[in-house]
Amino acid sequence: MDVLAALQARRSIRAFRPDPVDEALLRQVLDGAREAPSWSNTRPYRVAVATGDRLEAIRAGMLAAIDAGPPAPEHPFPTDYPSPLRERRQATGYGLYATLGIDKRDLAGRQHQFRRNFAFFDAPAVLFLYVHEALGVWAVLDCGAFLQSILLQATALGLGTCAQATSGAYPEVVARHFAVPERYRLMCGVAVGYAADAPVNTFRPQRAPVEELLIDGR
Ligand SMILES: Cc1cc2nc3c(=O)[nH]c(=O)nc-3n(C[C@H](O)[C@H](O)[C@H](O)COP(=O)(O)O)c2cc1C
Repeated sequence: MDVLAALQARRSIRAFRPDPVDEALLRQVLDGAREAPSWSNTRPYRVAVATGDRLEAIRAGMLAAIDAGPPAPEHPFPTDYPSPLRERRQATGYGLYATLGIDKRDLAGRQHQFRRNFAFFDAPAVLFLYVHEALGVWAVLDCGAFLQSILLQATALGLGTCAQATSGAYPEVVARHFAVPERYRLMCGVAVGYAADAPVNTFRPQRAPVEELLIDGR
């Protein structure tokens, strides 16, 4: 079992080839991710799988939405990034732009790259993850375990992925195309496909060392 190899092989993919992903392969990804642990085994999440014409309609809807008004996610995006979270976030953002050859003062270039999120980086499949509101943060935690399981299983099957909070920015656009059950709230999306041979996909953001994650004893 080489779990470390899978963990290190997975990186966010932000440029996809147009090749579609076989439905059976997407099924295999979700089938594997079912092995994730869950609060009292409740599985407080659901998945909307968008491909083909439905995905194209959602993509167009998302791009229209970002042009029409600010994001309105069901789980509000954070606005407060105290140190050292702010520094890590900034370093990752600047690192991504540097990989793309976008100067950090080039606002138009940065905006263009940000907008690519709403086209799901041209991925041929997107999984929209919903959580049941009744379990609050525990549903979100379960969804995180499920999300990572999806990402790792996809990696093992040769697929590229990008978890995207931005895919939850306009829940009504997605809800136009899926019969979302009551009390399920859109959490995020996962872009899935085959990685394009593009510079952006070479970006390897740094990890905080373990020492920075540990809490000192008294
Ligand atoms: C919950 C969650 C939401 C994310 N949302 C986005 C997003 O909207 N757009 C994006 O480009 N990357 C997004 N990411 C990817 C992170 O930026 C990425 O995981 C982080 O920079 C580490 O890089 P790596 O995934 O390549 O290891 C998200 C990741 C997670 C876990």
